[in-house]
Amino acid sequence: MTATLTPPGSERGPRRWPLVGNLPAFARDPLAFFESLRDEYGDWVPWALGPQRNVLVSLPEHAGELLGAVESTFKPTELGWAFRQLLGNGVVVATGDDWRRKRALVQPSVRPRQVRAYAGTMVECADALVSGWSDGARIDVHREMAGLTQRIAVRTLFGSDAAGREAPISAAMATAQRELGAEFRGVTMFLPPWVQTPGRRRMRAAVDVLDREIEHVIREHEAASAAGQERDDLLSRLLSARDEDGGPLSRTELRDESITLYIGGHETTSTTLTWAWQLLSGAREARERLTEELDRVLGGRLPTYEDYARLPWTQQVVKEALRIYPPIWLISAVAGEGATLGGRPVPAGLSVWISPWSMHRDERWFPEPEAFRPERWSADATAAHQIPEHAWFPFGGGPRACLGARFALVEAALVLAVVAQRFHLDSGPTLARVLPGLTLQPRDPVLATLRAHRS
Ligand code: HEM
Repeated sequence: MTATLTPPGSERGPRRWPLVGNLPAFARDPLAFFESLRDEYGDWVPWALGPQRNVLVSLPEHAGELLGAVESTFKPTELGWAFRQLLGNGVVVATGDDWRRKRALVQPSVRPRQVRAYAGTMVECADALVSGWSDGARIDVHREMAGLTQRIAVRTLFGSDAAGREAPISAAMATAQRELGAEFRGVTMFLPPWVQTPGRRRMRAAVDVLDREIEHVIREHEAASAAGQERDDLLSRLLSARDEDGGPLSRTELRDESITLYIGGHETTSTTLTWAWQLLSGAREARERLTEELDRVLGGRLPTYEDYARLPWTQQVVKEALRIYPPIWLISAVAGEGATLGGRPVPAGLSVWISPWSMHRDERWFPEPEAFRPERWSADATAAHQIPEHAWFPFGGGPRACLGARFALVEAALVLAVVAQRFHLDSGPTLARVLPGLTLQPRDPVLATLRAHRS
């Protein structure tokens, strides 16, 4: 059940506790909290996180308007200490002119034409993974997918220079990412930087390792470039990027953007894949259509970048998994002077929140929202039932939309194509519970029995 927009000025919201506001309900289960705000109070709901005044908006047109106004009348939400330690002042953290310059410098390295060059690595890594699998074996799906997207991230970023450094880089990234998630979930996010918790110390140590390792890789790339060697990885593209004034990214900026692309892309894509396997496990028909499409289009060979466009059902599976389990489940921005939304003024300083989780599970835009139905995304279905723009926004939108959307969609589809041609990952019909941290992780281990297809 969903409510309709309350008239301006008469918004109702949940009761707030002194000092903490709605923090207890938010901290207990933020996903259920957002859904209950929408269902009980409508599409514009005031609530509070301690002293911070917020509003949750639940209409797609408001989401689109907000995303479009970030970096003009709205400001991105400040990211905390841990983000800055890890990502420095990379494109995710930067704001204003600094962000504009960095975005323009990073964007060309993840354009579709470049993603084509990374597709081979994606397929190779997925193929190497399944080559080690055997019929009947038990696997931890999320661990396998995390390992896979991590290898793909290191290799597409750093290419062959990463060969000897993959293990320390991956281990340090994993620690940093874990601590970032813990900081995001817990109260430490609100602590000042000088309070050094054990988690923050672990994060600091991991960042030191990353700084050292990435410095080596950058030097190796610079030497190769000076020797006239052409490279096809992301770091090489970042090295040759030039801003409007012809200036390159500095060493520190190269480090920041390398880590940003890694962190931005790896966990989001691995969770997408884990949830896709879970959803497919409980959906026999969708799975059969997938293997039918793969057999027909690929006939047993490995996919290429060009095959992506020939695999509409595989793409729809990814799109539907991103709908039901959007890895980034929360986006917020702070109103500046003169901000408006839906024609009404928004007071400066108010935090406006939109949630891909609750928007994607709203029956007004997606009938039977919890049902896994990749067919929702077929050309016929979308023509018959118009899904409003911004009702599906796993990659955000507007000027700060995800830079790696194409990269992620291609990676997820190619991995599905390589794996599903050979195996069904049978984790039964029961879905894991969700753990909303930095991304929407499975709370329980996703254990599956591998069932090899007849060849
Ligand atoms: C399924 C996978 C992915 C999802 C769901 C996802 C989601 C998002 C979302 C929602 C945002 C906007 C956040 C906001 O407005 O607050 C974002 C930004 C970003 N993403 Fe992704 N992402 C994914 C994969 C990737 C990949 C593979 C890369 C890099 C190769 C990447 C790089 C970035 C960067 C650099 C930004 C910041 C853009 C800016 O602030 O201008 N993402 N992503």
